[in-house]
Amino acid sequence: MPLRVAVAISGGGSNLQALLDALPAGSPAEVALVLSNKATAGGLDRARRHGVQAEVLRNPADADEWRGRLQAERIGLLVLAGYLKLVPPQVVAAFRGRIVNIHPALLPDFGGPGMYGERVHQAVLASGVRESGPTVHLVDEEYDRGTILAQSRVPVLPNDTPATLAARVLEAEHRLLPKVVLAAARAGRPVPLGPDLEPLSA
Ligand code: GRF
Repeated sequence: MPLRVAVAISGGGSNLQALLDALPAGSPAEVALVLSNKATAGGLDRARRHGVQAEVLRNPADADEWRGRLQAERIGLLVLAGYLKLVPPQVVAAFRGRIVNIHPALLPDFGGPGMYGERVHQAVLASGVRESGPTVHLVDEEYDRGTILAQSRVPVLPNDTPATLAARVLEAEHRLLPKVVLAAARAGRPVPLGPDLEPLSA
């Protein structure tokens, strides 16, 4: 049985698209459900075009609604891919170790409450660091603080704006996230990946 994956989104869903493209029928993981807190999230249409069930949460703060949907669909992994609301703590507790988030900077730096979207890349540029890149981490009760599973690095270039840096990091996200999901499917749970994006030996 493939690992059944739910993806939570709030926006365009390009990471969702990367997962849909990387997980054709017969893959060890499949996107079985897409949840959004916003009816206008473009990712909902991407999912539906792929024949994937896509739903707007009636109340994103309602843990029972989350648990009900995830359990009914027999979800083994929840991926937060541009989901901008807090997942209720009871859901985090019920799915501990089975929720991952993708963040567009090298955590533990440039994360935490309010650090999303352009602000992340502005902070990276203001700091003067020479590298950035996405992080996938386990979700716990604090924003962007759970165990880091995988990162990849891209250069920060002298003429970068938040938009050019965001675009470079986003491309790296699209490569990184499917690797984490496939490794989770093979291992039966999310596992850390090394710099080569292969699972670290057990
Ligand atoms: C990505 O940069 C991701 O790291 C962040 O939100 C953005 C979502 O982009 N959490 P998309 O909706 O997948 O295009």
